[in-house]
Amino acid sequence: MQNFKYIGKKLFVEKSSVKNIAKKNQTPFYLYSGNQIKENYINFATNFKAVSPLICFATKANTNLKILNMLAKLGSGADVVSGGELLKAIKAGIKPNKIVFSGVGKTEQELKMAISKKILLINIESESEAILIDKIAKKMSKKVSVGFRLNPNVDAKTHKKISTGKAENKFGLSIKNFMNFYKKTDQFKNLSVDALSVHIGSQILSDVPYKKTLKILDKLITKLKIKLKYVDLGGGFGISYKKEDRLINLKSYAKLVAEFKKKINCKIIFEPGRSLIGNTGILISKIQYIKKGQNKKFVIIDAGMNDFMRTALYDAVHDIIPISKKNKKENIAVEFVGPICETSCKFVKYNKYQKVSEDELVAITNVGAYGSSLSSNYNTKPLIAEIIVNKNKFKIIKKKQDLYKLINS
Ligand code: LLP
Repeated sequence: MQNFKYIGKKLFVEKSSVKNIAKKNQTPFYLYSGNQIKENYINFATNFKAVSPLICFATKANTNLKILNMLAKLGSGADVVSGGELLKAIKAGIKPNKIVFSGVGKTEQELKMAISKKILLINIESESEAILIDKIAKKMSKKVSVGFRLNPNVDAKTHKKISTGKAENKFGLSIKNFMNFYKKTDQFKNLSVDALSVHIGSQILSDVPYKKTLKILDKLITKLKIKLKYVDLGGGFGISYKKEDRLINLKSYAKLVAEFKKKINCKIIFEPGRSLIGNTGILISKIQYIKKGQNKKFVIIDAGMNDFMRTALYDAVHDIIPISKKNKKENIAVEFVGPICETSCKFVKYNKYQKVSEDELVAITNVGAYGSSLSSNYNTKPLIAEIIVNKNKFKIIKKKQDLYKLINS
């Protein structure tokens, strides 16, 4: 992460000292590197150059309007899963003809919105949804471009709570159900079946499940002789949270996708979320109190599970690093915990850490994806500010929520 580094003993984001930013802004806050966002997008596009895909950023990973706007300017489309995300993507400048809509429970209101905004594709996840879309489209006298999301029953070998492509998961249609249903789609006069889509999980670190999925799609499309405009291969590409995390070689996967594309003769869509945004943000927090526990020290910081949920939800490990480094480490275990009244409001534990004191600042790392977007008002805490760095300048891209507005409902 070239954009997050120590210069001397001080942590910098690009050319800005975190300490200086924290002097002017109340902790906790999210802090992003604009340059890292650009680099990630360009890197992803370059790796898949041979495929020239439509890249639809999975907005659920980060719905900050300014960030969506930056991605729009870089050429990104959007994968949305609600009416709110759809409106935000359009507001951020993403063209409707670059937006795909996924999700197992789209409401009639959301579907009407998607149809009237003329988005590229609605990815259908059940027979009932297909029937409803056809009915709505008929009433609106529209022919709607749709895809079917398949559940290929492939194990993405990731955390069970973020696996989506196994038969036991609620997502998509099984191959068998799709094969039976596909024969009937001619009856749906207001649907144009233009795509098949898959998304098998998130934080995937092996290319094996992707290769398996591609084979399954190839076999199915060949068998049914379906003519498709698009195949949407989803997202899920993992990032390096831990030193030992080895990432997928996207270039070599791209080669396989390019062969597949040539054979099927369609446009490829990807829906990356985490891989574009995960390593672009850190969460700056102040040490509120330190107290002795049994065999460890509790370092109570002012950020909690309401601000950053991933550890509480998935036992995710996010390193916490000091804003000012010290040379010596203390020989006592420290556990970073948050203020929320839940045992799971805790972050990482170290057996050795540098000596820390109250009021010092730390940064929770790799929180750009599913950080702010998963945050909540739990314990009636306001949503925190989001700030972006551009070289030696910073800008507030979301103000901290006003406590007195929050308490009115
Ligand atoms: N497309 C669809 C249909 C999805 O459901 C998702 C993520 C993505 C794309 C983007 O996946 P990505 O490239 O970011 O892996 N909150 C969890 C992750 C949940 C992912 C849900 N779906 C976490 O913090 O790990």
